[in-house]
Amino acid sequence: MRRSVSEIVAQMTLKEKASMCSGKDFWRLESVRRLGVPQVMVADGPHGLRKQAGEADHLGINDSIPAVCFPTACASAASFDRNLLRQLGEALGQECQAEGVAVLLGPAVNIKRSPLCGRNFEYFSEDPYLTGELAASHVAGVQSWNVGACLKHFAANNQEYHRQVASSQVDERTLREIYLPGFEIPVRKAQPWAVMTSYNPVNGVYAGENKHLLGDILRRDWGFKGFVVSDWGAVNHRVNSLKAGMDLEMPGCRVTDKEIERAVLTGRLSMKTLDEAVRRIVAAVLRFSEHRSPAVFDRQAHHDLAAAMAEQCGVLMKNQGGALPLAPEDRVALIGGFAKAPRCQGGGSSHINATEVDDALSWAQKLGFKTEYAEGFSAVSDGRDEAALDEAVRLAGASDAAVVFAGLPDSWESEGYDRRHMRLPACQLELIDRVCAVQKRVIVVLHCGSPVELPFADKVGAILCMYLAGEGVGQAETRLLWGRANPSGKLPETWPMRLQDNPSYLYWPGDGRTAVYGEGRFVGYRYYDKKELGVRFAFGHGLSYTSFAYGPLRVSRARTKDVEGLTASIEITNTGRVKGSEAVQLYVAPEKPGDRPLQELRGFEKVTLAPGEKRTVRFKLPGRAFAVYSETLGGWYVPQGGYRLLAGASSRDVRSEAKVWVQGTRRLPFKVTMNTTLGQLMEQEKLRPLLQKYLDQYGSGQAKTNQSAVAAEAMNEDMQNATMYESPVRALRSFGGVGSARLQAAVWYLNRKLKKS
Ligand code: BGC
Repeated sequence: MRRSVSEIVAQMTLKEKASMCSGKDFWRLESVRRLGVPQVMVADGPHGLRKQAGEADHLGINDSIPAVCFPTACASAASFDRNLLRQLGEALGQECQAEGVAVLLGPAVNIKRSPLCGRNFEYFSEDPYLTGELAASHVAGVQSWNVGACLKHFAANNQEYHRQVASSQVDERTLREIYLPGFEIPVRKAQPWAVMTSYNPVNGVYAGENKHLLGDILRRDWGFKGFVVSDWGAVNHRVNSLKAGMDLEMPGCRVTDKEIERAVLTGRLSMKTLDEAVRRIVAAVLRFSEHRSPAVFDRQAHHDLAAAMAEQCGVLMKNQGGALPLAPEDRVALIGGFAKAPRCQGGGSSHINATEVDDALSWAQKLGFKTEYAEGFSAVSDGRDEAALDEAVRLAGASDAAVVFAGLPDSWESEGYDRRHMRLPACQLELIDRVCAVQKRVIVVLHCGSPVELPFADKVGAILCMYLAGEGVGQAETRLLWGRANPSGKLPETWPMRLQDNPSYLYWPGDGRTAVYGEGRFVGYRYYDKKELGVRFAFGHGLSYTSFAYGPLRVSRARTKDVEGLTASIEITNTGRVKGSEAVQLYVAPEKPGDRPLQELRGFEKVTLAPGEKRTVRFKLPGRAFAVYSETLGGWYVPQGGYRLLAGASSRDVRSEAKVWVQGTRRLPFKVTMNTTLGQLMEQEKLRPLLQKYLDQYGSGQAKTNQSAVAAEAMNEDMQNATMYESPVRALRSFGGVGSARLQAAVWYLNRKLKKS
């Protein structure tokens, strides 16, 4: 019988333990063969296997083994489909088993704070719930093969600019409500084997040394059981990071191994802390090595899967006057370098060595459609070629329809740096304008990892956004354009009109030392909605070639003490003529939002329906769907009140709603002090009558009788009340002539009254 992990660790020397806490090299973990701990390797994901057999690097410089490039997270998130992410995870898990990779570094669940972040293509969404739910399915899929998934980058790593040094300054409520649930949901639902800390400090403390994040939140609050690994080269102070709960340093570093040994010998690090870290690492190593499966993967089958997934991810942003789908008899001009060389992934550590990338040009020919091609502009730069532009315009004018394959060149969007602006290359914008002048039926297909400004949106007939859809992109977009497949993607992020509208605009990217998250919780649609700002395309938006009718939204309880177990259901009918899928979204909107967003996504379900078919979609709403995080309570609570549940085809296309009244389970504690304002006292049901009596006696009533007509006009009773409500209790000394001792007594009395109730 094999020894337990604790027994194995107990037999290790200090040197062996210290060495287990950092890799053997760039991708491999240390081994202790004499105790049966083998060597295993980790490799990059998240949308494919980036296993480097030769020269190693974490920047996408050197080659990795040929592998299948699945849709990147920006695209797979647009599926709004947990099953798709599960399937993606399973495919990756299988490839890892076949290639002997123990842990796949992904999914990456950072929130898209600004469209400029160079790594947005690796991340899912601006919404934490969507992010967390999709990530949980991805993790479960990978781990179903006894391969570990590694959530990254924990936490508040939302820009590339000075990512190794700039501290993300975020308040606790914003962290808990926006930046952390993308980690919390998969940790609670799927227990990833590992979590990777980010490079940056959070509120002044490096993520890898942050006891609050790693100890209080990740392990204590969420119950994370796996090991924590540093981002590659992220370690600042090795001993402090171990103490904070960051177990494994990558890549391997013999210098810090020595530091660990010295710290134990000099009593600065307890053996207990070291043992715990080693146990977590060894547990994962054994979990993989003891569950090897003789997996082989069929590259062609996975390529086909990647293409089928890409179909589910394409978002039909606009389709006017039946611009799409194209018919087999249409003579179609295919324009733009991306038709021949589509961009299907981004640069950096997630870059997959994809050997078979489908392009639309070949696929349109393969499927027998009538097409002609003119490059017009290159896919790799913003070079302007007059002859190429002219040729593309001529072809567009001579065809029944023109499809422009636009997008961001590879070098414009990558890990390691952020974009400077949100525009497409000027040569592309010019060509689209010129094509619109000669052709009525213009369709633009986008290949980009993050929103771009779309100045041509009102001029063209249709826009199909493929994001960075993996190696099957060409096949998928061709099938979508000609209606062989029906678009069903929804935008996992808002597409603003212009960069300046983005909530982080005033703060981005910071001064290099700090990145201040001044917009707080108002990220993405939470901001655009509250500001009632027009957007190019709303969060959750995406069209179809069919139509869906939403029935009435029903809730299991209209009034409820405890929200737990509340369900909402709605019947969806395909009212069009073709089969299609709809991602039905459920938003929770407090009737009195106060300082909360107007609405937040709390459920989504994707249904596929044949023409005329109906299905009832159900949402389970836990307490968290209504809750806010309170720093005062140090936890979540559901504010009492009325809530609207909104079922929609997008965040701005609500089709059906229902109301529910929730009696909150916890109240925020309230204590009267000399600095409590009279207005705050009036908000307390128990104190209001008392205070009203006092004010009637000494306050505005008195003023009314003594006030001259002129004075009353300058400050009428309502104005006096409003001003008085802003005064703290202590002000009654100056304005009410009440003595300090009497006020202290009143404060004591009011607190007793509150306690009694
Ligand atoms: C990235 C990680 C990646 C690691 C290893 C880092 O630069 O931030 O996402 O997993 O390198 O390649």
